[in-house]
Amino acid sequence: MSHANHIENSEVMELWSHNPREQIRPFLHDVFRCLEGEIPLEWPLCDVKEYARLYRAFYDGVNEIYDAADRMRSLTPRMHMALRLMGESALYLMKHDWEHPREFHQPSAQTVELVAHRPEAILDYDQLYCTPESSQRRIERVLQWVTPASRVMFLGDDDLGSLLLSRCFEGEIFVAELDQRLLDYVHERAPDVTTLPIDLFLGGIPKSLLRTFDAVVLDPPWDHYHLWCFLYKAMICLKRSEKARIFMSFCPLYLEYMQRKKHVFERRLASWGLQIDQLTPGFHMYSLQGTEFMEMVHSFVPDIELPLLNILKNVPFGFSHLYELRWNPSAQPGALRSRLLEWWHSA
Ligand SMILES: C[S@@+](CC[C@H](N)C(=O)[O-])C[C@H]1O[C@@H](n2cnc3c(N)ncnc32)[C@H](O)[C@@H]1O
Repeated sequence: MSHANHIENSEVMELWSHNPREQIRPFLHDVFRCLEGEIPLEWPLCDVKEYARLYRAFYDGVNEIYDAADRMRSLTPRMHMALRLMGESALYLMKHDWEHPREFHQPSAQTVELVAHRPEAILDYDQLYCTPESSQRRIERVLQWVTPASRVMFLGDDDLGSLLLSRCFEGEIFVAELDQRLLDYVHERAPDVTTLPIDLFLGGIPKSLLRTFDAVVLDPPWDHYHLWCFLYKAMICLKRSEKARIFMSFCPLYLEYMQRKKHVFERRLASWGLQIDQLTPGFHMYSLQGTEFMEMVHSFVPDIELPLLNILKNVPFGFSHLYELRWNPSAQPGALRSRLLEWWHSA
C-alpha cells in the first residue's frame, strides 16, 4: 500500500469513528448540569419514567425561553425562528440519545469514504450537509421502493445520495443540481449517473424526463416559495403510478415560525393530489458546528438572560423530517392543471 493510500485510509477510519454521539452526549451533559445541577448517573440507560421527567424538565426550560421571547414585543420572526431552531433541535437530540443509546447513527466505511472529500458547503446555495449516516439511511429507504428497472431523480444533491445509491442499485440515476462542483464530484466517482446542471428556481426539467421517475429525492430550501419551486419539479418528474414515491427531507420550522404557512403547505400538497404516505420526524441530522449557517442563526438570537439559552447556542446538530409522498389515487389534480404545471416547470 502506498503512503498516500495509507493516509487516505486512516483519514477514513478517523472519520468513521467520529459518531455524532460524541458531540451529542457532552452537549446533553451541559443541559443536565444547567437543569439539574448534575448529570443523571445512568443517562441514557435510565427507565422511561426518569426519561419522561428529564425530557419534561428540558421541554419546560426551552419553553421558558420561547415565552420570554414572546413577551419581548420588538423581536422579528427571524429571531423567534432562531430560538425555535436551537430549542427543537436540542429536544430531538435528547430523544434520539435516549431511544438509541448505542449504535445508531454510525455510517458505513463506504459511505464515509464516498463523502470524505466533497466540496465545502456554500450558504448561498442553501447547503448544509446532513451527516453521512443520515444520507445513508435515506438511501436505504429509497431502496425499499425501487427495482433494478427503476429510475431515480435527485433534485439537488449536496448530501451525495446519488453517489451512495450508485453503489447498490442497478437502475438509472439522474441528478439535477446548480452547483457544478457537486456534479463533477459525483461524475468522477459514478460516471453512470446522469448529471444535469439545472437551476431549479429559474430553469426547467427536460421534457423527455417528465413523468418518468419511480422515485424523486429532494432536500428543498425551507422557505415556501423556493420549497415549491423544487416540489413542483419533483411532481412533474414523478410517474403517475401508485408505487412512485417522493422522498423529501424537510424541516417545517421555518414555515411554521417565520412564514406561518405550514397549513398552506399541507393544503397545497393535497390540492395537487399528493398525500403523505409516511412521515418520520427527526430522520436526518445536520452538522451545525462551525457552519456559516449557525453563525447566521447566532446573529439572530435575542438577548434573554436565561442560562439554558447559552447552552442551546452550542447545539451540535439540526434535524429534518423525512416526508414520503405519493399520488392520492382518488384526488389527482385536473388534466389541465397538470399540463399547465408541466408547461411552466419544464424546459
Ligand atoms: C436546497 S439545498 C438544502 C440542503 C440542506 N441539507 C438544508 O436542509 O438546508 C439542497 C441542494 O439543492 C442545491 N440547490 C440550491 N439551490 C438550487 C437551485 N436553484 N437549483 C438547483 N439546485 C439548487 C444545493 O446545491 C444543494 O445541493
